[in-house]
Amino acid sequence: APLPQRICCIGAGYVGGPTMAVIADRCPAITVTVVDLNAARIAAWNDPDLSRLPVYEPGLDQVVGRCRGRNLFFSTAVEEAIAAADMVFLSVNTPTKTRGLGAGQASDLKWVEASARTVAKAAQGHTIVVEKSTLPVRTAEAVKAILGAGVAGKSFSVLSNPEFLAEGTAIGDLEHPDRVLIGGDDPAAIDVLAAVYAHWVSPERILRTNLWSSELSKLTANAFLAQRISSINGIAAFCEATGADVREVARAIGADSRIGPKFLQAGPGFGGSCFQKDILNLVYLCRHYGLEEVAAYWEQVVRLNTWQQHRIARLVVTRLFGTVTGKRLAILGFAFKADTNDTRESPAIRIARDLLEEGAQLMIVDPKVSERQIGLDLGQPAGEGEGSWRLVASVEAAALGADALLLLTEWEQFAALDWMAIAAVMRQPAWLFDARGRADEAAARAAGLNVWRIGQG
Ligand code: NAD
Ligand code: UDX
Repeated sequence: APLPQRICCIGAGYVGGPTMAVIADRCPAITVTVVDLNAARIAAWNDPDLSRLPVYEPGLDQVVGRCRGRNLFFSTAVEEAIAAADMVFLSVNTPTKTRGLGAGQASDLKWVEASARTVAKAAQGHTIVVEKSTLPVRTAEAVKAILGAGVAGKSFSVLSNPEFLAEGTAIGDLEHPDRVLIGGDDPAAIDVLAAVYAHWVSPERILRTNLWSSELSKLTANAFLAQRISSINGIAAFCEATGADVREVARAIGADSRIGPKFLQAGPGFGGSCFQKDILNLVYLCRHYGLEEVAAYWEQVVRLNTWQQHRIARLVVTRLFGTVTGKRLAILGFAFKADTNDTRESPAIRIARDLLEEGAQLMIVDPKVSERQIGLDLGQPAGEGEGSWRLVASVEAAALGADALLLLTEWEQFAALDWMAIAAVMRQPAWLFDARGRADEAAARAAGLNVWRIGQG
């Protein structure tokens, strides 16, 4: 199949940036331009200092460093890039609606609609439009309708090509995908997109489906993954109540090849921009189609997750003699998982907010998250006194005078801490609450700390 010569990607976010960088890296003959309305974000993608890219992903700086200015460009000239392109990816945000019909569940498609309208207006000749954003099943129908209303002399093929990368491992996931999924009803257009991926993905991993299966497979994959986490987190709480240990249970059930060992790590609940939003969208769609039992089934996955986050804050307060007012608590990790600067839906947000509400003084440590971002997430600027938070540079600084440490993100550097030195500067009796089950528990106990670990009965 012929290759596209020029690709334009609308949306320079966590998906658009890394995905297009890898396409540019693997396909030197294709010119890839990533566009965004957010000028600050584009400026950061163009920053000569590769440590200041707007997205932190291990290995991303090297890929961008190899391609940028060669066949990878970041620009705010949206219409110009669309006009020059023969393939346009839509990789804009699709968050949960905050008001109106379906508020709190349905996806807000205003950015998808706006970018489709811009494509309709600016495109020239024949353009393949690829849905890269995660979208409600049947969105391609709306995209086609918007594009179809364009001027004569233009034509479009619409494909669905959902992205399965996980943050923190995006480059590896993009370079070695389990599968690439392409949904569509125009075999020639599917061939063109498949030829792009064929540069580095073997043909048997490139799956072709109809549009609706492709759109729905993305929601379903995220629902299944999140469901495993809520399942093991529910069992973790049950382990704590009964004397079982969730690590041992996870190992035992994961050895069953039908269950498998992955995604069975109990924790403070799943975060990230995708799981909650995509399940709620699925729930909304099921209700829309009259499938109340199916909707209620998936909705419970999100409910259990919210409960788990509040549960952790509650048990910290309970263990600290029922009050944390004025107490210093060290928060280890604010990102929703390790190796990302992303805090969207991070469990740390809900847990920190609960503890601030109780009057705690939070000393937060995170290697990649900025003070500005934490302020936005917690709804208050850094400060002093009861119900305040500060970002500090090291675990030792956070521990100073603290009654407890809460391990919330599994950053590598939190796995091997000097527990003797840390315990020595805390106020006794001091606690470690390990919500990830990643700390060296024996060393922490040997240093005199009380230890609570997720799922340990
Ligand atoms: P993001 O918010 O990081 O990036 C989206 C970008 O699109 C923003 O920079 C925004 O300014 C830009 N944008 C919005 N409307 C625009 C317009 N009309 N013209 C130009 N630019 C516009 O979002 P993200 O995390 O990259 O997610 C994008 C999509 O991919 C979502 O649908 C998400 O569900 C899906 N997805 C995300 C992940 C993930 O791990 N983050 C993984 C798979 C799929
Ligand atoms: C997820 C999907 O994995 C990915 O395929 C999709 O494209 C986007 O959504 P992401 O949210 O980036 O990716 O990260 P993921 O590794 O799935 O973790 C999500 C959350 O679940 C994190 O908060 C993580 O800490 C938590 N998690 C994950 C657990 O608590 N236990 C586990 O066993 C796995």
